Amino acid sequence: MYDVYKIRKDFPVFLNNKTVYLDNAATTYKPQVVIDAVTDYLSKETANSGRGDYRDAYLVDKRVDETRILVKKFINSKYAEEIVFTQGTTASLNMIAVCYGEKFLKANDEILISIAEHSSNTLPWVEVARKTGAKIIYMPLTEDGLITPKLVKEHMTKKTKIVSLVHVSNVLGYVNDVKKIAKVVHDMGAIIVVDGAQSVPHLPVDVQDMNIDFLAFSGHKMLAPTGIGILYGKKHLLEKMDPYQMGGGMNISYDKEGNYELFKVPHRFEAGTLNIEAIYGLHAAIEYLNKIGMDNIAKHEHKLRRYAVAKLKEMDHVILYNENAETGIITFNIKGVFSQDIATYLNSKNVAVRSGQHCAKFIKEYIGEIGTVRASLYLYTTKEEIDTFLKAVETSENYLDAYF
Ligand code: ALA
Repeated sequence: MYDVYKIRKDFPVFLNNKTVYLDNAATTYKPQVVIDAVTDYLSKETANSGRGDYRDAYLVDKRVDETRILVKKFINSKYAEEIVFTQGTTASLNMIAVCYGEKFLKANDEILISIAEHSSNTLPWVEVARKTGAKIIYMPLTEDGLITPKLVKEHMTKKTKIVSLVHVSNVLGYVNDVKKIAKVVHDMGAIIVVDGAQSVPHLPVDVQDMNIDFLAFSGHKMLAPTGIGILYGKKHLLEKMDPYQMGGGMNISYDKEGNYELFKVPHRFEAGTLNIEAIYGLHAAIEYLNKIGMDNIAKHEHKLRRYAVAKLKEMDHVILYNENAETGIITFNIKGVFSQDIATYLNSKNVAVRSGQHCAKFIKEYIGEIGTVRASLYLYTTKEEIDTFLKAVETSENYLDAYF
């Protein structure tokens, strides 16, 4: 049985901080096992990875390799070599845009993205388009706020080479059917890149089943430290790409004539020292998530969300933008009130939410508002916290002097 109160005991922050934390789409709290894993690296076996010939360096190498294998299993990639350690989703998406996009796109090729994309899945393509002469096609959403296979097909042409889409929107929380979309994209001869920042921490994700070409996600949104992320890429695609950065840890040899030989993937994409303590933390985070079960986490969030949404719907002063989302994201406004004012009011009631555009600057075309308030749940959110949030939203009507 899912015991959220038992889970909360694993997170020391709850002893020190009584905030009702509903900004989990931005980043998550860390369990003690993650903190311990980072501390173990820093206090017990510090060494660089891939370079040393002594015991602690061996232990560090072993943990880095084990983490790569753990990530491979977590997203069910075919090979561990398909897992590249990066600094986060943004770094992963930039690497795909630069190392694949810049290399293979030509003038007038098309890159298809949607208006729901986060800046990190928009601006890297803007730069690639500027450099290569390729064009970005911005796809709207369906009436239900989704990106569907049909919509993708309608917006693809013979010139479409890359389709880069969000799996779960960080504003709307809808789950796009990436598996069916991937089929459409491949049938039209293009590749599909998936921004998994809001899906991998919350749902079971299987890259082989979805048959996607690239996936980007961050550790800090799934209980791990900041500064660690993953770029998944099909091996044959990674092997065609040039490195993102040159330096130590990714080359076998080079000479003064400018010739060099590089390591195979994934190491050729990991120049310089990795964020090793964060990799230790990511290992502990994935083991922790596996222990609880991604299906159970998804069910917990969805159940709490349904409860919250039913109550919010009874409040006349609330506008809800994603009633039917299947994840833990609730996006709303109070009629006639600026979203940041709502967040500030909720903060006065000790409730932490995010407001504004949420780094997805074109989604206003679907929502019809510049800013919204986003409450995002996670595996440790309780019904009592949701009640505190609901009470604060309910009382905001008087305090914020909303007109409607
Ligand atoms: N992309 C993160 C969010 O949606 C930071 O809050």
